Parts: sequence; C-alpha cells; structure tokens
Amino acid sequence: MMKNLISFLSLILLLTACGSNETKSNPVTKSNDDGLKLMESKCYACHNPKTESPDVIIAPPMIAVKKHYLAEHESKEAFVKAVVDWAMNPEEENALMPGAINKYKIMPKQSFEKEELQKIAAYLFDNDIEKPKWFGQHEKEMHGDGGKGNNWKKAIALIDGKKWKVDAVTQKHIEQLQKTVSDNQAGGTSDDVEIYHKLGSLMSDEVGALLKDCTMEGADHDALHQFLMPLMKKMDKLKTTPTALIGKKVFGKIGDQLEEFGKYFEE
Ligand code: HEC
Repeated sequence: MMKNLISFLSLILLLTACGSNETKSNPVTKSNDDGLKLMESKCYACHNPKTESPDVIIAPPMIAVKKHYLAEHESKEAFVKAVVDWAMNPEEENALMPGAINKYKIMPKQSFEKEELQKIAAYLFDNDIEKPKWFGQHEKEMHGDGGKGNNWKKAIALIDGKKWKVDAVTQKHIEQLQKTVSDNQAGGTSDDVEIYHKLGSLMSDEVGALLKDCTMEGADHDALHQFLMPLMKKMDKLKTTPTALIGKKVFGKIGDQLEEFGKYFEE
C-alpha cells in the first residue's frame, strides 16, 4: 500500500517535472518527498541517522549539520545556498563544523547535481530530520548549549537595555583576553598550527585565572557564566585544532565574541 502510494507520487512528480521549467520559481513545499529520497540516497551513506552509537558513525548525522547551518544562516535562501555550496565543493576554509573535520576528516568531494542538492537542502531546512537514537544525550554532552553557538546572546539578553555588572577583576581579565586577540592579529593569520595551540592555552589559562578570582554572585554572575561557557569551548577547540586554517577561524570567532562583551557587561 505504502509502496504503491510512493510510486504513485513519484509518477506525479515525474509527470509534473516534464515540460515545466523545474522548481526554480516554485517555492518548495513542506512535503518535498523528492528531497528526502535524494538525501537518503546521496547523503545517508555517510550521514546516516540509523546508527547505534556515535562511535560507529563516519560523518555527523544530518540533524547536526542542520543545526550548525541554521545557527549561521537563518533564512532559507542563505541556508540552502550554504549547504549546496559546501556539497558542490567542500573546502576546509568554508567549513562550519571544524570539529567534525577534526574527527572524521573533511567530506570527500563528490559529483552531485546542483538541482538535486537544492532539493535536499530545502528539505533539510523545512522538515524535522530523523535523529539517531543517541543524539539527544550526545548533544547534551557535546554542546550544552543545544548546538547553537550563539545561544548565549539569548540567554543574557539585556533587560530594559540595562547591562550586566561585572567586578573590576573580571573586567581586567576580559581586557587581557581582548589584548591577546589584538596583539595576535598577525598570529591570527599564521600558517603555523602550533601558534593556535599556544594561543588556545594562553587564553584558557586567562579564563582559568578569571574564574579563580571571581567573587561575583547572583544574576550578574549567571550572565557572566553564560558568556564564558561558549568562549571556553572555542578555546578548547583552538588548543587542539588540527590545522592552521581551522585555528584561524576559531581564533576569529573568539575575537568576535570578546568584542561583544562590552555590549552586554559593564563594570
Ligand atoms: C562519503 C561520505 C559522505 C557523503 C556521501 C556525504 N557527506 Fe557530507 N560530510 C561527510 C563528512 C565526513 C563530514 C564531516 C566533516 C566535514 O565537515 O567536512 C560531512 C559534513 C557535511 C556538512 C558540514 C560541512 C561543514 O563542516 O561545514 C554538510 C553541509 C554536508 N556534509 C552535506 C552533505 C550533503 C548535502 C550530502 C548529500 C548530498 C553529503 N553531505 C554526503 C561525509 C559525507
């Protein structure tokens, strides 16, 4: 019955595809079954959601890819373009998941049809994607923030425009971190991976000192904590970056986040 239904639907798809100028001006509807089938046949060989544990996978599950891409590209148009561009030509310098490259090696370049990728990406954007059984737990362990690196902004959104208060010692440590970033703009474009490992250690130590000196309490303290968690995660990534290219990227993100400190906190 199900099978019949599916072949019936594919027949309709086939018929409607003929003669019409494909989906270009057609907004892809929520039930883009084609997209799902294409994703299953072209992507699930590696991005398989039906795995028993994170130890046996050879690529991050699609749901993880979706989360990382959504965090950077909120509109459907930008999201689809980014996924398609990546799959057409995976290059480290465009990666949004440097941790995954570190773990699985970069996605091999394959020959995909652009239009098929567009359908896949649109499907990915519009629909709930099957999650591996282990995913919820894994995600909690790996990304306490639900995978969205910018969640701290929501967590510490200003109330009536009033900034959170930090004490003088904390402010000093943050300024030191900002100085490390600006002093190493040159290092930030280095080709030497060791430099990034050193910068990662240096900055982690600074945050360690900040935490040790910290005597703040209450809501201000909690807001600071929310700010520091993702920052520390980025520093851990920097310490172990497999390549200078990824190091450069992560270092840039640390700089970006530190630059925002003054928008949310004041002494
Ligand atoms: C031969 C295995 C393989 C296949 C097939 C495959 N991928 Fe990947 N893909 C990977 C691996 C491994 C990674 C993780 C490393 C990385 O990010 O490059 C990845 C990562 C990605 C990423 C995140 C890249 C980043 O770091 O920003 C996207 C997007 C992606 N794949 C899309 C797709 C799509 C869409 C398809 C199907 C059309 C597909 N992949 C098929 C192996 C594969």
